[in-house]
Amino acid sequence: MKENISKRNDNFTSSLGFVLACVGSAVGLGNIWMFPYRLGEYGGAAFLIPYLIFIFLFGWVGLSAEFGLGRKSKSGTVGSYEYCFGKRGMGWFGKKIGWIPLLGSLGIAIGYAIILGWVLRTLWGFVSGDLMTANPGAYFGAILGDFGSVPWHIAVIAMTCAILVSGVSNGIEKANKILMPSFFVLFLGMAIWISFLPGSGAGYEFLFVPQWDKLLNIKTWIMAMGQAFFSLSISGSSMIVYGSYIKKDVNIPEASLRTAGFDTCAAMISALAIMPAVFAYGIGAGSGPVLVFLTLPKVFQQMPFGQFFAIIFFVAVLFAGITSLINLLEAPTEHLQENFTNSRKAASIITCVVSLVVGIFIESEPKVGAWMDFISVVIVPFGAVMGAATIYYILGWDELRKELEIGHGKMPEIFGLVGKYVYVPLTIIIMVLGLMYGGL
Ligand code: PFF
Repeated sequence: MKENISKRNDNFTSSLGFVLACVGSAVGLGNIWMFPYRLGEYGGAAFLIPYLIFIFLFGWVGLSAEFGLGRKSKSGTVGSYEYCFGKRGMGWFGKKIGWIPLLGSLGIAIGYAIILGWVLRTLWGFVSGDLMTANPGAYFGAILGDFGSVPWHIAVIAMTCAILVSGVSNGIEKANKILMPSFFVLFLGMAIWISFLPGSGAGYEFLFVPQWDKLLNIKTWIMAMGQAFFSLSISGSSMIVYGSYIKKDVNIPEASLRTAGFDTCAAMISALAIMPAVFAYGIGAGSGPVLVFLTLPKVFQQMPFGQFFAIIFFVAVLFAGITSLINLLEAPTEHLQENFTNSRKAASIITCVVSLVVGIFIESEPKVGAWMDFISVVIVPFGAVMGAATIYYILGWDELRKELEIGHGKMPEIFGLVGKYVYVPLTIIIMVLGLMYGGL
């Protein structure tokens, strides 16, 4: 058994620090460039019904399970699978398959870092003022080729590495305590300013006028489910690692629901900060890179105090992205530190260099697009299934319950039933549908 033989002694110092780090992971590009569009496109206020159901469900039984496993096994991704399968005399098998979600985390990190490099470069465009007059299409186009954004990419990885090297309490926790509240303040400020723009009403209409008929379309439910998974960072890996850094007095189900709550607030605030501005200038709604790197720069170019708000926006996106990247890179860092180097510094640097070196070769837009599709369609959902099934069926509800009851008190029986018979099947459904539709 791996229990209690960990060499690690660096933990989150408080429940708040832990929740902020998890919110940091959860709030990212998913909230900013996917949620606002999906909200409007799949039914406005009506979309909130399936979305909130899934966020609550996955936050409650899904996140709690990943955190609980991490704290129980006191080890990272691979060690946690080894621990669960070890209970059935098959630790060797767990140790092998644990690599899949671990590499999944590294894979998302590689793509994420490239996109954050584009964010940094766009931010610089607004700081220097060049992007206030340049054509955003041409400006963005200039960095989309092979090796097109190397310095920016390096800068993003270097910033993240500086945080990782400092460890869990001194690096990750402190960074999130500054970056996450800043993100909320900046985006909230923007949302308020944008509400005064003439013409913003059309954006609120897009976001909120309920189209109830969309609820009859199965796609709406699937999109809500996929969005909830990605947004909560449930991938059978990095949230397990964060869970391994919490002390026994933390109330895990409560912390999980708090994380889900803040993540949803961030998604709503992003929608309010983005769509009304886009509509005020008569530009159609969109999502993904087009929204962030083409549409929004056009909006900022025309908006009063546009340069100022563009800087605020891209700084906040960078904060949201880096705090997700930290969580993604923590999984391989933890693995290296525990199993190979014994040194936090060496482990962080190796992880960051590997993600940079692989990433540099897929910097062009079609390559990073294909990479992210593969990771988000195949690897991440597969990791979510593995995590969910391993926890609820291999480790088992009784063992998970014992862990969750520490710091929480008696757990309701329904929790285990929902986990086993609703949550696990839903992870499988989302994986199969993702493969069928080529991405959610
Ligand atoms: N939740 C992040 C987002 O919404 O952008 C993405 C993410 C981070 C997914 C960490 C998975 C993960 F482990």
